[in-house]
Amino acid sequence: MVIGIISAMSEELELLLNDMEIEEKTHKANMTFHKGKVWGKDVVAVVSGIGKVNAAVCTQILISEYKVNSVINVGVAGGIGKDIYPGDVVVAENLVQHDMDTTVFGDAHGQIPRLDTFDFTCDKELVRLAKLACDEIKEINTFSGRIVSGDQFIASVDKIKWLESEFGAAACEMEGASIAHVCYLNSIPFVIIRSISDNANNGAHMDYEKFIPIGVKNSTTILKAMIEKID
Ligand code: ADE
Repeated sequence: MVIGIISAMSEELELLLNDMEIEEKTHKANMTFHKGKVWGKDVVAVVSGIGKVNAAVCTQILISEYKVNSVINVGVAGGIGKDIYPGDVVVAENLVQHDMDTTVFGDAHGQIPRLDTFDFTCDKELVRLAKLACDEIKEINTFSGRIVSGDQFIASVDKIKWLESEFGAAACEMEGASIAHVCYLNSIPFVIIRSISDNANNGAHMDYEKFIPIGVKNSTTILKAMIEKID
């Protein structure tokens, strides 16, 4: 069994790559695919680049060419809701692309037109293991819920209010729902684990720079504990 692990940015994958025994590196679509072992499991780890298109291309390559059996996306996100702070971890239960808008045809915001699902549900077993890891690591505050993705860095109180009321989102980022979409189309189990780097409010870009290291540390800690639980 091979697990595909995707981060959007190199700093989000750095701690995992430090621990990984890399057997082979290949370059495709401007991405480097690292094949090897980490924390006792066979993985292909890759930095996709930022945004939904990069993430979708990356996920399809992992599935079609590296034949991964599951996909885990790890990285940082903007927190939505008053009790969520930088360093907290969110395990996605499901994901929606908040910037998909065909409402003029009567679709709900986020609905991919003519697709038989509104949201993309994470694999129950992978979510269970991620939550088990969260329960064990008491120093990290953890949540589960919906993550929304779009090709926008959210830095506006009005926008986060809308993401909360429209989608009931716990966090926002720029790749998870597109990775989920590709996995859904290919019937591949997936989970998205994100740590909060900012509260997506005015000034989020400054918090983001400051809190990325703690976000990466905490999301990698949960990921490691979770991967060690996979049979
Ligand atoms: N990733 C981390 N913070 C984010 C934000 N505020 N908006 C979108 N993606 C993010």
